[in-house]
Amino acid sequence: MMNFDAVAILKEVSVILSEHNEKTQSLVMITRLLKEKVFHYDWVGFYILNEEKNGLVLGPYTGAHTDHTFIPVGKGICGQVAQNKQTMVVQDVSTVENYLSCSINVQSEIVVPILKDGEFVAELDIDSHSPAPFTNDDEILLEKICRELVLIF
Ligand code: SME
Repeated sequence: MMNFDAVAILKEVSVILSEHNEKTQSLVMITRLLKEKVFHYDWVGFYILNEEKNGLVLGPYTGAHTDHTFIPVGKGICGQVAQNKQTMVVQDVSTVENYLSCSINVQSEIVVPILKDGEFVAELDIDSHSPAPFTNDDEILLEKICRELVLIF
């Protein structure tokens, strides 16, 4: 059984996107929504590609402060997703060598790319304090949201 209501979350995302034209505001609201509605999401944020610097700049987020405001492409889980353009699910961050730690409380992480015309433009990053909490349902929900977000990138 799914431990969140994906249909309701997707509906709320659509409402946010249709009611709030300002991109940053919409992204902030989506991070808040996800953190609030899914128990195992403890930090929810966006990283945006800066092509000139070949790296990711921290965008809107909800959760604890992070020192990782810039991540070079290829570095950490976030940088790898920017490079490979594929969702990465890490059920236990202690097993990943190329990992950038944000807080000792984080046990797992999922990062989903936002692709515009097949090109990487940004990503949705979620940290969890729970061990191995992610299922296919998380991937399906977050990939759907990221496909919708192409509209505002
Ligand atoms: N853990 C990420 C860095 C970003 S923080 O989770 C906010 C990584 O390894 O890329």
